[in-house]
Amino acid sequence: MKQLSRIAFVALTMILMISELYARELNVVPEPAYVDLEAEGDYLVTEKTRIIVVDEMWNPAERFAEDMMAHFGSERPMRLTKHGNKGIKVRTDSCIAAEGYEMTVSCDGILIIGGDEAGVYYGLQTLRQILVTNEGRVPYGFIADEPSFSYRGAHLDVARHFFSVEDVKTYIDILAAHKLNRLHWHLTDDQGWRIEIKAYPELTELGSMRKETLVGHGLEPKWWDGTPYGGYYTQEEIRDVVKYAAERYITIIPEIEMPGHAQAALHALPWLGCNEQKVEVWTMWGVTPEVMCAGKETTYTFLENVLKEVIELFPSELIHIGGDECPKDRWKECEHCQAMMKAQGLENEEQLQGYLVARIEQFLIKNGRRMIGWDEILDGGVTETATVMSWRGIKGGIYAAERGNDVVMTPMKLCYLNFYQTESREGEGLQIGGHIPFEMIYAWDPYEGMSDEAKRHIIGVQCNMWSEYLKSMDWVEVMLLPRLGAMCEVQWAVDRRDESTIRRKMESMRKFYEACGWRCAPYYFDGRK
Ligand code: ACM
Ligand code: ZN
Repeated sequence: MKQLSRIAFVALTMILMISELYARELNVVPEPAYVDLEAEGDYLVTEKTRIIVVDEMWNPAERFAEDMMAHFGSERPMRLTKHGNKGIKVRTDSCIAAEGYEMTVSCDGILIIGGDEAGVYYGLQTLRQILVTNEGRVPYGFIADEPSFSYRGAHLDVARHFFSVEDVKTYIDILAAHKLNRLHWHLTDDQGWRIEIKAYPELTELGSMRKETLVGHGLEPKWWDGTPYGGYYTQEEIRDVVKYAAERYITIIPEIEMPGHAQAALHALPWLGCNEQKVEVWTMWGVTPEVMCAGKETTYTFLENVLKEVIELFPSELIHIGGDECPKDRWKECEHCQAMMKAQGLENEEQLQGYLVARIEQFLIKNGRRMIGWDEILDGGVTETATVMSWRGIKGGIYAAERGNDVVMTPMKLCYLNFYQTESREGEGLQIGGHIPFEMIYAWDPYEGMSDEAKRHIIGVQCNMWSEYLKSMDWVEVMLLPRLGAMCEVQWAVDRRDESTIRRKMESMRKFYEACGWRCAPYYFDGRK
């Protein structure tokens, strides 16, 4: 009996070893919903492979052909054709979920069927990861995939440090490769106004430039670098970026901060403040007491005029109005603010902010858009239709979702990718603080503490990139990668995360990032957290 069980054990071990040898793995991030690979056989993709475009899927095919040019190091993109059988064929089928796709790989070629154009694009992104990390070889088999969340966002702060159009396009490329579909563009703040507004040229003429920048964390004694710093996007540049993003199935949500985080605007247009005193474009980080006056009609006219131009530039249904961290010191001393509170029957300054937010929301709705704001918009009594971005933790998000508001979860302790990646902070340069290793994001349950009813209102998850200490896109890339690999799993594949495979997949992604020319932090791969 003993002998028999030993034979059985050896046989089983051998079977496992052989199946291990032949089990083929797909190192794709985020994890597809269904993968069935054949035991053997690969379809080889080269720069000569044709892309057969059915159902007018030209845009995703062109984007893929361009990406392949970079990977193959060729001068010419892969050929796109309407006819033919051998090659990579792309088409749509409305039976497949929005943004979803199916991919079949056999000796006949590769067939990608998307639920829509974005689905075709995501199928091609999956294909791109496979062939770039596998020398062009794509295993025979079948993949079916679709996202967990319809909102998969990343934010970029261009106010604290400015990023060129080319840099923003690189950021967009990285998001697209991870199947994200929203870029939350933080365009205005105390330290700089970065979007041209034709009605108020002073905003960029004066408000885009600060005198100097704080050095280090501003511990006493504080000192500054003495170098003027600025930058802004013309409306033409904004249109170019919006188009570039749309071609990669990314909607840009612009953020115009109000009524706080607006000191750069107050510098340009002092009448926006309560006391109309001249203030500088801020050279500190943090929260300033200089905020827009919520009592004067001129502030509302200003905000509406700015938003009119913003709406013209950005097709996004959601428009972000900030709403975070607005101290009420000036309002308490302001005759206009106090008069507005009295006239509107408001009990305190929080409610005055609620009044401003509700009025702006109505303006957006009248113009066919919807409002999104940071979770402070809950404090003054939020409307039923606003979308809430839960950043101070998860409580605001849970509260808003229970009430029936749409919610994007982006709690600071898990989603601020400008935080350190390791506890030791060695080699990480000077960052703002915090600590978010890769593993922490990967293990995060964005539904934690929610009822089934609340879960239905969680439209998505977002990571944020605040740029106080990020002076170049190189640094942004290092903060983003590889952690976006974990974040996109939460956003796209929330119910299919697997601790036993993620490291192997990320080793492959590291090669992918290198091939794309993106910088990636080493810590996760070295086991540092
Ligand atoms: C924020 O971090 N103030 C939204
Ligand atoms: Zn005021």
